[in-house]
Parts: sequence; structure tokens; C-alpha cells
Amino acid sequence: MKDTPPLRVDVPYRDLREFLDRVAGIGELKEVAGASWDLEIGCLAELIYHRHQESPPAILFKDIPGYPGFRCVSGLTNSSRRLALTLGFPLSPKPLDVVRSYRNRMKVHAPIPPVVVQDGPILENILRDGEVDVLKFPVPKLHELDGGRYIGTDDLVVMRDPDTGWVNVGTYRVMVHDGQRVGLWTSPGKHARQIREKYLRRGEPCPVLICCGHDPLLFLAACNEISYGISEYDYVGGHLGQPVEVIESELYKLPMPAQAEIVLEGEILPGDTLPEGPFGEFTGYYASERGEKPVVTIRRIYHRNDPILTVATPMRPPSDFSFSKCVTKAGMIWDEIERAGLAGVRGVWCHEAGGARMFHVVSIQQQYAGHARQALHLTASCQSASYMGRFVVVVDDDIDPTDTFAVLWAMSTRCDPVADIRFMEGAWSGPLDPMVDKATNTNSRALIDACRPFERLASFPLVASASEELKATVAAKFRHILDQ
Ligand SMILES: Cc1cc2nc3c(=O)[nH]c(=O)nc-3n(C[C@H](O)[C@H](O)[C@H](O)COP(=O)(O)O)c2cc1C
Repeated sequence: MKDTPPLRVDVPYRDLREFLDRVAGIGELKEVAGASWDLEIGCLAELIYHRHQESPPAILFKDIPGYPGFRCVSGLTNSSRRLALTLGFPLSPKPLDVVRSYRNRMKVHAPIPPVVVQDGPILENILRDGEVDVLKFPVPKLHELDGGRYIGTDDLVVMRDPDTGWVNVGTYRVMVHDGQRVGLWTSPGKHARQIREKYLRRGEPCPVLICCGHDPLLFLAACNEISYGISEYDYVGGHLGQPVEVIESELYKLPMPAQAEIVLEGEILPGDTLPEGPFGEFTGYYASERGEKPVVTIRRIYHRNDPILTVATPMRPPSDFSFSKCVTKAGMIWDEIERAGLAGVRGVWCHEAGGARMFHVVSIQQQYAGHARQALHLTASCQSASYMGRFVVVVDDDIDPTDTFAVLWAMSTRCDPVADIRFMEGAWSGPLDPMVDKATNTNSRALIDACRPFERLASFPLVASASEELKATVAAKFRHILDQ
């Protein structure tokens, strides 16, 4: 009998604080003292992440003026090595290694439901009713034109489907209106939106938890399109190889991570809306206008002592989370298109310039006529890539999908625009898309076949590049020149 390889290469960290210790241990934590919640935290994230370093650090903001003892953290999973730490993969600086590990994990991944425990650090402080004040925390105003301070960016919004009991955990932006009221924005089609509509159609309040400090693995699951009906808690359990520990909230018995830093509990009442937004978004624009959005009235706050608020700063990419989205999305797409039966996939990459959603490249070893088009259609329509997609490019397996230069070369030399670019219309998009068709809330997609034509594979002009053997020999002989 064959031994099953261990799911993870490490023992999972216990909580966000132990994760931060591990990040510091690999030299990828930058501590910043004295930055204000008022634009400085957001602007520093932009300054640091726009430097195009190989592995921009996670940023721990401390000594925030007016908030002694409180900290904010951003960019937790935004490097190949920090992602590997989060997911328990071998540490590698190469994005495609992590993508491959993700897709390999999914071959053995089985969801594990959470376990309810009675106690945990999140219960260290409980504020009830009149004590509730969400501005007790150093909630940042991230961009100059934002409509307010956003407590929910790297957050987990927990809701229970009233029909099935399924618990969804999603990341959706949350703006503070005042100490007891926040605005929650969910795009049409998102799971929380579907669940909320069910309660409101019945004229019932929709119970909500908003977790604002937690294990980064929960954030990775919450901000990606996990299939409808699968709880992100179960999905994360499958990555940990053990159940997530949750505690039931006081009012609505909704599960909150026992090790979380800050959790808000409340409800959305039918018809209760206030103006929300605008907010600088991941596409690089303030695309959704200020408008009436549902309000969550907060009736409980749970928090650890000296809590840490997790922050994500959407902006013109790259941002403090865009790279991590590229890797996880690429791994998920790879897994989904293979599950749909596609052979010969050699790599998938979601480009950061497209905010991990709008420019995807799949590399395949072509095996039959129509293979490349099949790869395009599956990629454009799979659950992980469907929302707000724009361009999908398929390339041959000699092209590294992460290498923009190589991808553009393939598009320039192996694609006949009239014959090889096809369009999809009426696809899932939403108000954040600067090019959305506002009448229908949909967009169109370009599917670009940049593979050599299958029927010309044998006769296609050869690539004018030295062989690997020749390059190795000449490089060895002239190392003194090349290393200068
Ligand atoms: C930092 C960040 C903020 C996000 N904010 C929103 C948001 O405000 N509204 C929204 O619909 N999706 C938002 N998303 C995308 C969703 O998290 C993502 O589509 C996720 O799959 C939603 O969960 P669901 O699939 O359970 O609906 C955000 C993602 C990130 C990384």
C-alpha cells in the first residue's frame, strides 16, 4: 500500500499572532510606528507595494496615534513565501511553484467542518448594546476620495442561509457610519447578497458577523469564489487537515473563529440603508458611486486584548493583496479546468495588472484540434474566473504564463486577430467594473488563442533561440563576461 504524503509540510500556526512570528522569522515583516489611521496607513501600503520588489513585506502598523495598544496589519499573504507559510507548502520564491502546490493540494483536499468550542481568546472582551463603538479600533480611511473609514477590507462576513443552514464566509467591504452602524456592500451574484435577499424577501432581519482580524488562511478562502454551498470554514479545515475552532455568537449563534482578533455582530433590517462609498477599488478606480447600501446595526463586539485589525488596501495594482489573489486564483482555475476534464494544462497565471481577475493566461501542451479553444472557454466560465473576467489567453507550453514578455511575444507571433480572438457577451460582472454595461450589469470577454495553429504544429517556423545545451556551454565558457 502506498503511503499518503502529509497534507502540509508544517504544523499549522495557532493564530494570527503566531503567523506574524513566523513571517518575522523569514524576514518578511516590516514594522511601522506612528502612522495615522487617517490616510497614512493606506498611503504607506501604496508606497511600499508600488515599489515592485520581489517580495514586498507584510506591514505591521503599531503606535497608531490615538489608539495605544492597537495594531493594524496588511499584506499578510502577499508573497510566494508567505503564501506557502499560510497554506503549509514548501517555501519557494517562485509563484508558479505555489500555484502548482495549490492545484496538487486540491487533488487530495477534502472539506472538514468546523468544531464548536466554548472558549477562546475572542471572548476576552465583549461589548454589549450601549457599550458598542466600532471606532474604538483604529479604523483606517485608506484613500483620499473614500466615502468614509473602512473597518472591513481584509474581513470575513459570516451569514447563514435561512433555507439550508449553510454558513457562507465572504470578504466584502464594510464602511463605518457611526459607532453602532456600518454599511456592507455586496456585488450582485455574491453569496452574501443571495443570502441577504432571502431574509429580506421574508421581511426578516439578516444576521451578520463581521470578523476584522484573523488567520490569513480564512481571508484567502473568504475572498475567493468557493462554490455555492461549500462553507469556507470547511474549505479551510481541508487545507489545515483539522477543523477550524469556532465559538457561537451570543445573539444569532453564528460561528466566529475562536482565535479571531475582532468580531462585530449585528443584523441588516429590511429597508435600512444609508449612503455608502465611494471606495478606491482593486481595479484601480473609484468605480461604484456613492449610493444607498444596506446597514448592519452592530449589537455586540467581541475582541482580544490588544487586538490586531487586518487591513487590505485595494488600489491601482499592485496592492497589498493582489499578488496573493493571483496565486490562489491561478491554483483554483487550474484545479477547476482539470476537474472539468481538460488535459495538458502546464500552467495558469492571473496577471496582477488585471487585479487577478481581468487577465488570465493558460499554457497547454496541445493534443488535438480544438484543445486551445476548449481551454479558453472553460477558463472564462469556471467559477473562480467568471466574475469580472476580461481577457483569457491560451499559449503553448514553451511559454511561461507568468512572463508578460513571453505572453506578448506569443500573442504577437502566433495569433491571427481575426481568426483567433473570439468574444463572449453578457458575462458576470458588477458595479466595480469600470467598463460594465450599466443597463445589464454584465461585460464582455476576449478569448485569445495565441497557440500555434494545431494543424501547423509540425510546419510552424522554428523559434530562433539557442538550444539549452549551447547556452549552457557558452555561458560556462564566458562566465567572466556574463557575470560582470
Ligand atoms: C480586499 C477585498 C475586498 C473585497 N470587497 C468586496 C466587496 O465589497 N463586495 C463584493 O461583492 N466582493 C468583494 N470582494 C470579492 C469577494 O470577496 C469575492 O468575490 C468572494 O468570492 C465573495 O465570497 P462569495 O464567493 O462567498 O460570495 C473583495 C475581495 C477582496 C480581496
